Amino acid sequence: MKRRIIGLLFAAILVPALFLSTSCSLQLKSKISRDDFVPDFSQERMLETIKILSAEDGGRIAGFAGEKAAAEYIAGRFREMGLEVSEQSFPIKSFTCNSVSVDVISEAGKKIEGAKALTYSAATPPGGIEAELISLGFGTAEEYKDKDAEGKIALMKRGGEYFYIKTARAYEMGAAAVVFYDPDGGEAVSATLTKLSAIPAVSISHANGEMLENSIKDGDKVEIRVVVDSITEDSTSSNVIGLYKAAKNTGGMRVIVGAHYDGVDTPAANDNASGIAAIIEMARALSDQRIPLPYDVMFIAFGAEEIGLVGSTTFVNRMRIDEKDSVLAMLNLDMVGVGNSFELYTVDEGSSIRFRDMAKETLNQMGYAPLILTTDRSDHAPFAFAGIQAVFIQAGPYDAYHTDFDTLSVIQPEVLVKICEFGTRLLVEKLPLWVE
Ligand code: BES
Ligand code: ZN
Repeated sequence: MKRRIIGLLFAAILVPALFLSTSCSLQLKSKISRDDFVPDFSQERMLETIKILSAEDGGRIAGFAGEKAAAEYIAGRFREMGLEVSEQSFPIKSFTCNSVSVDVISEAGKKIEGAKALTYSAATPPGGIEAELISLGFGTAEEYKDKDAEGKIALMKRGGEYFYIKTARAYEMGAAAVVFYDPDGGEAVSATLTKLSAIPAVSISHANGEMLENSIKDGDKVEIRVVVDSITEDSTSSNVIGLYKAAKNTGGMRVIVGAHYDGVDTPAANDNASGIAAIIEMARALSDQRIPLPYDVMFIAFGAEEIGLVGSTTFVNRMRIDEKDSVLAMLNLDMVGVGNSFELYTVDEGSSIRFRDMAKETLNQMGYAPLILTTDRSDHAPFAFAGIQAVFIQAGPYDAYHTDFDTLSVIQPEVLVKICEFGTRLLVEKLPLWVE
């Protein structure tokens, strides 16, 4: 039986032991077939990886020393397991915010606690911007029809269009600054404008957003002061690439397994030290066992995802056409360490469906019914837009997204093991069917 069902092997780890004999174990190793892959994923090793990467709050923000240190650490881990390691560096704009404050002048300067600047928010003058607040719903073009935002501060709900589009519209309509809150609840969100905005943009909690909306509704003239002390400057980030050379005659064919390693201003344990821990563990298992595959596997830790998918976009933009053609599939792991169900995303309903169905079938065989969704908010997107079969897997639900609660303590290591099992099933059992 050439291709035994791998499920049996995942259930029975004992099998390889039967073949072990001291006299021929070396020879046996070189002959190992991928049917003999043993899913020996370690929860401890993955937790340790996450512990190291998430040790500091805001420790992996794109373009700063902590992101570079993380890249070095990942490169070291890839090297240690014998992968061919390379780093692809690229220019980015780094963003730091020293302080943010929002005060309600019309209420004796009452302070709005927990305000955050959006990444790439323009700074205010040192004394801040003081103006009347205007309520603009979701900030759509429609909302401005019979309102005058000139010189005012625009209060908007999160949702619908991107933050940068709503901010640019507010600027065009003459607004002096923008304040966002999430209508679905929660603290002030950490989000990005992807490039320097013309006017300052901050976020506040749901409760504070509602409070301000109510004051405006009551007919009061609400005046606020927004102060943002931020710096946007030139820096660099990099993608760390570990190539697992699986067999001799791959004809240059490859599968990409990626995860971003940068973070927002949180410990960023689940988003996305979890994905990095999982790709390192998968790479380790494959290379330890020298599993032969009909393609090379490129493990990529992407930099600068959180500021606009910059690492993955750069990687795709720098691929030659023949290189793009040689990518069989791309699997993206982002937020894979918490939850009780799995979510599979393609960028839309029309692309990467073949790979998405394969991923879905794999999860079904593992006993899961994944949610099937679409998003372009992670590193699979640039690959999918370049015509590559690209799927993003996430575990969920996850409440601590982009908050300071995104720490090691929320990670469920058994979920990480499932993710590794899923990923290696695709690599070892399923994707080979496309080339043989
Ligand atoms: N892991 C998130 C993306 C995500 C969050 C997908 C929740 C699905 C549900 C990712 O790291 C992220 O935050 N991405 C940015 C993308 C943007 C910079 C293009 C985002 O969504 O704000
Ligand atoms: Zn992420």
